[in-house]
Amino acid sequence: MDRIGVIGGGLMGSGITEVCARSGLDTVTVEVSQEAAQAAEAKVRGSLERAVSRGKLSEEDLAGALDRITFTTDLGRLGDRDLVVEAASEREDVKLDLFRTVGALLEKDDAILASNTSSIPIVKLGAVSGRAANVMGVHFFNPAPVMQLVELIPSLTTSPETLERMQTFVAKTLGKQPIEATDRAGFVVNSLLVPYLLSAVRMYEAGYASAADIDNGMVLGCGHPMGPLALSDLIGLDTVRAIGISMYDEFKEPLYSPPPLLDRMVDAGLLGKKSGQGFYPY
Ligand code: NAI
Repeated sequence: MDRIGVIGGGLMGSGITEVCARSGLDTVTVEVSQEAAQAAEAKVRGSLERAVSRGKLSEEDLAGALDRITFTTDLGRLGDRDLVVEAASEREDVKLDLFRTVGALLEKDDAILASNTSSIPIVKLGAVSGRAANVMGVHFFNPAPVMQLVELIPSLTTSPETLERMQTFVAKTLGKQPIEATDRAGFVVNSLLVPYLLSAVRMYEAGYASAADIDNGMVLGCGHPMGPLALSDLIGLDTVRAIGISMYDEFKEPLYSPPPLLDRMVDAGLLGKKSGQGFYPY
């Protein structure tokens, strides 16, 4: 698989675009508007430039990677792709629409349509795609160019060949470490992580401790690289909330339900790092 499509050029889509282009793959990234496409390009360029300044990438490889990427607003450009990774906003209606449309326009019978969703059932995306055997979850972590883990999520209808091809692609072509998870909200990592993040928000909301003290507690006391509130800001508070809601819908476990403060912050547009303000200013 060497012709890749990425849908969405936000936090994750821009990172996945960079990972694919740095692996030598021809990559087409689709956004909703010209401004969003330009913003995605700026994110990828900025990240590649940081890699150069840290000595992790040569100027030549930066230029090569950018040459391999096309940013567009035209979903039709995905027709000739071998693999499309959908990384649009975490909204079921948006993703169902995309899987319906893109499932129909992929030209190759064995083209794979994968979703980077954190919590939406993969089986639902497969069902509307018209190519359910070739649909699965491929869940990267933020920042995608740095984090080694990729969760692979076959659904009830994914074929063993699709899973096998993705395992090879992730491990050999992208050089990342795949683990396999079942198509249940949260997969492996978020099932463990999100209740912890929501508990930290609840603790802060109840006035147990300041945001900085909660985070320092986990950084200095448990050796975590980042505290739970700073990590929530990095992930995006809307995304943390959406994952909590999906996990609560599936399991009815109260600890998965987002606390009121998180709802209010998202309603206010305080989404964390990407909006400039969350539990901390950026
Ligand atoms: P984001 O809000 O940064 O980016 C989403 C992008 O999708 C936006 O730029 C938006 O314009 C674009 N978009 C929306 N509808 C579209 C459409 N119809 N066609 C093309 N582009 C469209 O969100 P983020 O954080 O990048 O999340 C994307 C996906 O990745 C979500 O499914 C999320 O659950 C998942 N994810 C997020 C992680 C995180 O740490 N934020 C980690 C792993 C997965």
